[in-house]
Amino acid sequence: MITNTELSKYGNQYPNQIIEFKQDNDKIYFTTQNGVILQITVLRDSAIRFRYATEHAFEPDFSYAISEDVNTGYNELEVLDEKSKYVVQTSKVRVHISKVNLKTYITTLEDMVIIEDESGFHWEENFDYGGNIVKMSKVTQSGESYYGMGDKSSHSNLKGKRVNNWATDSYAYGKDQEPLYKSIPFYIGLQNDMAYGIFFDNSFSTYFDFAHEKRNVTSFWADGGEMNYYFFYGPKISQVVEAYTNLTGVPELPPLWALGFHQSKWSYYPEKKVKKIANTFRELKIPCDAIYLDIDYMEGFRCFTWNNRRFPDPKKMIDELYEDGFKTVTMIDPGIKIDRDYWVYQEAMEKGYFCRRADGPHFKGKVWPGECKFPDFTNPEVREWWGGLYKEMIAEMGVHGVWNDMNEPAIMEVPTKTANLDVRHDYDGNPCSHRKAHNIYGMQMVRATYDGIKKFSFPKRPFVLTRAAYSGTQRYASTWTGDNVATWEHLWIANVQMQRMCMSGYSFVGSDIGGFAEQPNGELFARWIQLGIFHPFCRVHSSGDHGDQEPWSFGDEVTNIVRKYIELRYQLLPYLYTMFYRYVKDGLPMLQSLVYYDQEDSQTHFRTDEFLFGEQILVCPVQEPNAKGRRMYIPRGKWYNYWTEEVVDGGIEKWVSADIDKIPLFVKEGAMIPKYPVQQYVGEKKIEELKIDVYFKEGVETSVVYEDQQEGYDYKKGRFSLRRFRLRGKDTELIMQQFKDGSYTTPYENIKMQFHGLPFKINKIEFNNEFVDLDHVQFDGKNSITVSKDFTEIHIFGE
Ligand code: GLC
Repeated sequence: MITNTELSKYGNQYPNQIIEFKQDNDKIYFTTQNGVILQITVLRDSAIRFRYATEHAFEPDFSYAISEDVNTGYNELEVLDEKSKYVVQTSKVRVHISKVNLKTYITTLEDMVIIEDESGFHWEENFDYGGNIVKMSKVTQSGESYYGMGDKSSHSNLKGKRVNNWATDSYAYGKDQEPLYKSIPFYIGLQNDMAYGIFFDNSFSTYFDFAHEKRNVTSFWADGGEMNYYFFYGPKISQVVEAYTNLTGVPELPPLWALGFHQSKWSYYPEKKVKKIANTFRELKIPCDAIYLDIDYMEGFRCFTWNNRRFPDPKKMIDELYEDGFKTVTMIDPGIKIDRDYWVYQEAMEKGYFCRRADGPHFKGKVWPGECKFPDFTNPEVREWWGGLYKEMIAEMGVHGVWNDMNEPAIMEVPTKTANLDVRHDYDGNPCSHRKAHNIYGMQMVRATYDGIKKFSFPKRPFVLTRAAYSGTQRYASTWTGDNVATWEHLWIANVQMQRMCMSGYSFVGSDIGGFAEQPNGELFARWIQLGIFHPFCRVHSSGDHGDQEPWSFGDEVTNIVRKYIELRYQLLPYLYTMFYRYVKDGLPMLQSLVYYDQEDSQTHFRTDEFLFGEQILVCPVQEPNAKGRRMYIPRGKWYNYWTEEVVDGGIEKWVSADIDKIPLFVKEGAMIPKYPVQQYVGEKKIEELKIDVYFKEGVETSVVYEDQQEGYDYKKGRFSLRRFRLRGKDTELIMQQFKDGSYTTPYENIKMQFHGLPFKINKIEFNNEFVDLDHVQFDGKNSITVSKDFTEIHIFGE
């Protein structure tokens, strides 16, 4: 890795005094005497974009990261011309720009410094490639913490670390290893209880140094392109994450089955083996919704072909699996085998769709099939073609989901593990080299895949999984964290990575449960499942060059534990689906690190293990062998131990028992957690009744349940059911109100409320303001009642 100091020996250049200032609506331009232009764009009162040009010239303004649905509009924008600086003021922040050197700092309206340039923008000419190495340095404020940055395998608080974003195939990576598969150049800073975010939208190799090289400096730089970053002000982390997520986008709702349990291996073949695995799930009554076909289903690893000896009639197999509730997901890689008799190769050759080297020859690289060529997914015409290739697989054979792998792109037998830097790309009409296109290559591949399979799956929803990603890829695909290892340390890494991804706008994420490389023992597998069912994407996958890694591979005790947890995931599906809805609708991360949950409590700033699953369930995995429990931090507030129903007062670290069949799990008081009955796969059963676990609270708490047809797009026309509950408890009373929205009629008529921690015996019930005879509500005489799903208010009186 090049260090900042090494780069400097070629000579840093700095902006000097401002000689010109211009405002054009939401854009303000400051030009220096030595030809630097700073363009400030006010997107919203607390979202501001900074772009720096040298030699008076900006590059064309183009980014793959930015969503079309970004919200813009501010309440106030005023530019003040003061003696030594300009001040750009919105209703939330002030940006101060020095007239002497273009350095900036941003304050709140109360003049608290949020972020401040140290050296600020500077650059160095890139003698090898032309253009600039663009750099930015900021002051690290005392006690400042840093979060985000995608899939980094480091401590959740990045203070003291340096990271690099360059999408890399990182087989069996380790803790702190850099770079990994994804490039998400977004971080959150937190100081003095003020959170802000920086998104450096630059697809070149980028580096971030969080007070690593110098104790009081945080800097970021890129090998090329523009200094182009977005600043978001909180002051809450949640506001920063929502703003970044709004800018880079969210996915559509996935089919509900995609939130079920998935089983994968490299590879299940032939057909008989696939069926055997599927049947065993059903025999052992372990719920499962999807089975994966890794590269060996293809003929000689040629994408879009089938090995007919292994799979003589794929359509029939896929149909039969589907009848039994299994959705089939197939892998497609970007490398196209060089083979004159292979139709995909021929088409791409004829149409000129493969990437070329600088002087014209095609770029070639070795992957699974041997020598391959690579489509230029940054060309819209190529994307359209690539999407069309899925027609047979999806529309005719009935494959339900596609898994795009090796799309960094990963190249074997070369030290760089990827394409040569001189490879040319269209970049949607902004031709460039691989230096600029590398980090977005995988993203454009899954974008093409997504668009194609969406068309062919219609009216059903598509499901795409990707390994490589750049900011914004969450719009097209779910993702996993690549080739991890079956070790306890990797269980820790998986936990941190998922939280970090969720904080970085990318919630539909999971790890290879049990580890991809090497063999877990039963205990590690059980502990990993206990964590994995709380990750948005829940899949067991392994490299297959060692023992089996199915839920039943580790003896009866482990099988029973695994079943119990997968069942719990299926029970929690309405809760999980609601989390997804909240993510899509409001940009709310599906998992919340403790610092996200309660940033005011400084105890949370360095926690890694505990997180919230959605908004109301606290999870803390056991990450050591032979444990009977663990110490964990319970955030402030009152929490019910899920297993014992004991109520604990948070704000303390505590020993929590968790033998091999338990994971520390707590529910926020006042929560109303919706549950479905256990199904072997999504849609197996008609949901006859919605169960809600009600956790009594003295005070108020709100909960939400989102439901729809679990497939298709009618939800976009209002056919959804949104129940908002407001719970209010007092010493001998409990009131639950329901506010309903949407026109979807849920299949069940009744809701069964199961009370937890009710401090009184139910004496009377008022239903929509009328007393009801206890015989008329189905009251089990103790702590559960069944009521019509359309109630507006239930008032329970105790004695
Ligand atoms: C890569 C993937 C892994 C897959 C393998 C074979 O290593 O990360 O998940 O099983 O390739 O396709």
